[in-house]
Amino acid sequence: MKFIIGNWKMYPSSLKEAKFIFGGIKKVARGVTRAKVVLCVPALFVAPLVVLGGKSKMSVGGQNCHKDDEGARTGEISSRALKSTGATYVILGHSERRAMGETNADIAEKTVGALRNKLITILCVGEKERDEHGGYFTEVSNQLRASLALFPRNASKQLIVAYEPIWAIGSSAKRVATPADFREMSILIRRYLAEHFGKKAAFAIPVLYGGSVDDLNAEGFLREAEADGFLIGRVSLNPEKFGEVIRLANSVKPR
Ligand code: PGA
Repeated sequence: MKFIIGNWKMYPSSLKEAKFIFGGIKKVARGVTRAKVVLCVPALFVAPLVVLGGKSKMSVGGQNCHKDDEGARTGEISSRALKSTGATYVILGHSERRAMGETNADIAEKTVGALRNKLITILCVGEKERDEHGGYFTEVSNQLRASLALFPRNASKQLIVAYEPIWAIGSSAKRVATPADFREMSILIRRYLAEHFGKKAAFAIPVLYGGSVDDLNAEGFLREAEADGFLIGRVSLNPEKFGEVIRLANSVKPR
């Protein structure tokens, strides 16, 4: 199964638009059997979009959560609250949140909350820059080690890892990563996952690529680099292009 996950970030700015975009994607996702479509939307939109999703196989997720289930934490949203509104996934450790000061230790605690509330964690890792000496491998290994420090060995089914090199994300991206860039890093990621979860379990954990994915570059990652899918920002707000990525993923044989 390929995972096509949208990260809507702080878009769109109204529920009306959110419903419109969601409806467009739902149409494309109908009849898709080899790709799982998940939309991680602003928390306020989770409940109404879960209702709109109805019996479709699409899932809705959050983009962050607090480690605690409740408390005097003005402005925070707990994984328990997310779950109660119908979310089944949560993105943790996105680089935009890390840039706001979130540490690997914070992320590790959040994964425990997510697990406790039966949310699947989509853990983001990725280096800021690529250097000639391969320091970025160490950077990503360290992120994995520290963010998964509290993740139980027997809970691998509750985890998805998204490799998102920061230099390839968003409208200021320097360039898109190549399938070869991704393949190399995914080998390292899976090696680490095997140490943590054991070989068999690690093999089954989806490792996704994220960073300027669109309908034109998606196929290379799926076919050449055997990506298990994508975490997609901008293009996930465009039902036509996002729909094309879903169709492509549905046409590729699972790994
Ligand atoms: P992008 O964002 O697809 O717009 O580059 C990806 C992400 O931030 O998850």
